[in-house]
Amino acid sequence: NGEEIKICCIGAGYVGGPTMAKIAEKCPEIVVTIVDISAARIEQWNSDVLPIYEPGLDDVVKKCRGRNLFFTEEVDKGIREATIIFVAVNTPTKKIGIGAGRAADLTYWELAARRIAAVADTPKIVVEKSTVPIKTAEAISSVLHAAGRTSFSVLSNPEFLAEGTAMDDLEHPDRVLIGGPLTEAGATAIERLSQVYAHWVPQERIIKTNVWSSELSKLVANSFLAQRVSSINAVSAICEASGADVDEVARAVGMDTRIGHKFLKASVGFGGSCFQKDILNLVYLCQSMGLSEVAEYFHWVVKMNDLQKERFVSRIIHGLFNTVTGKRIALLGFAFKKDTGDTRESAAIEVCQRLMQERAEIAIYDPKVEHEQIWYDLSEVTGLEQSQIEKYVKIEGSVQAAAKDAHALVVTTEWDEFKTVDYRKVYQQMSKPAFLFDGRNILDREELHSIGFVTYSIGKPLDTKLNTV
Ligand code: NAD
Ligand code: UDX
Repeated sequence: NGEEIKICCIGAGYVGGPTMAKIAEKCPEIVVTIVDISAARIEQWNSDVLPIYEPGLDDVVKKCRGRNLFFTEEVDKGIREATIIFVAVNTPTKKIGIGAGRAADLTYWELAARRIAAVADTPKIVVEKSTVPIKTAEAISSVLHAAGRTSFSVLSNPEFLAEGTAMDDLEHPDRVLIGGPLTEAGATAIERLSQVYAHWVPQERIIKTNVWSSELSKLVANSFLAQRVSSINAVSAICEASGADVDEVARAVGMDTRIGHKFLKASVGFGGSCFQKDILNLVYLCQSMGLSEVAEYFHWVVKMNDLQKERFVSRIIHGLFNTVTGKRIALLGFAFKKDTGDTRESAAIEVCQRLMQERAEIAIYDPKVEHEQIWYDLSEVTGLEQSQIEKYVKIEGSVQAAAKDAHALVVTTEWDEFKTVDYRKVYQQMSKPAFLFDGRNILDREELHSIGFVTYSIGKPLDTKLNTV
């Protein structure tokens, strides 16, 4: 039907912000309001410095903000005025209680749903944008129905954007997935939501399924992607033990069109707010359905990732003559991948923590991550106060500054700027022998070797210069 669409999105985070900005850009006639309980976040969205760094986001926000894109703390008003309500709140792994360490914490989700139930006075389409366990839509429907909101529809519309490329992913999505109840009302709701995406996404890319398939597909997609990274990382261990080169293997294997070349880059380990959380969520679901072998199968994707991080740290310690105590180590990159300031589950955090345990002195440089965030992450993981951490850790403003007097460079994020540094100059000011541990395989190993570095790259033949790595 032609009823006017007005959108409200609860949660102004990495997903809510970019997705709604894209919808506002593509649908100038639709008013899009993003609400959040964090006043500080809303204030940042309304300022010149947005709370998240995402290439291309600033331009779209500047173009649409105040036109048909609004950021506000007024959650209730936003809910009341909307016809479609997206819920894009965080769903982290539970820290306490049943399923702790595996199950998704749905506290924020339920709070948002209960807020909708309490204040919405006209029928709404409620859209799950957050990644949630299967059957969450059903649970949310129950909360709404119990509050007398029986004409509300709950849809699942998981988000597949990746950080660092979010605006591009949103502009050209491989697919948009909409799951809904198998009822007439459900079909109407799906149709209305697909009308929004149809402004720029070709019809054949808008997939409609039942609600459980949609919820499960999101968990499966992330599990498969992470599984590829863990598989190539497992292969990297075989390469180091055998003299094969993981990049050559990935290239040869990936050229098989059935396998494909994407997501086969060996690394220090995957990070980000989604992979580990979503796999553990799937593992928990499998366990609660009595599918313990299936659970174990997926669980190994995360275990392999933990092993990879530990293997990398062991190489560093082993390489540096089995002791890093008192040695300065330059950690290049703290974000979980390039082109983002996000550090959630970043491999760098664990590498840093392990090196701190060995009493190394660590000099961190990351081009985008806020210093405050680094202190916060290290406090969380070590349980120490910032003042205690500062005894081991310094944050520097450039590769050059971090490398001064360092025994080793450790690349933990694949920032492009690390590729163009003058490593001859860097080498000159380092302690000798100078080591390089490339956890992302982005640097030219031959060149660094010829400068004089003892090098280690993931899944590459070992450097025999000193026979320590
Ligand atoms: P985030 O932490 O960046 O943002 C969530 C926001 O929701 C926060 O600003 C928080 O203040 C707000 N919030 C929480 N409870 C609220 C409430 N009751 N009312 C109003 N605001 C509330 O999280 P994110 O990275 O955007 O992730 C959101 C969801 O999307 C998660 O389920 C995640 O798994 C999923 N997801 C994330 C990505 C990603 O790349 N980050 C990609 C796909 C899916
Ligand atoms: C992921 C999914 O890609 C996205 O579809 C989903 O919506 C959210 O989760 P994101 O976590 O933002 O996105 O980044 P992604 O590009 O998937 O990278 C995740 C981690 O895997 C990063 O730490 C990255 O460095 C690592 N990675 C990725 C590898 O180590 N090797 C690869 O080949 C690919």
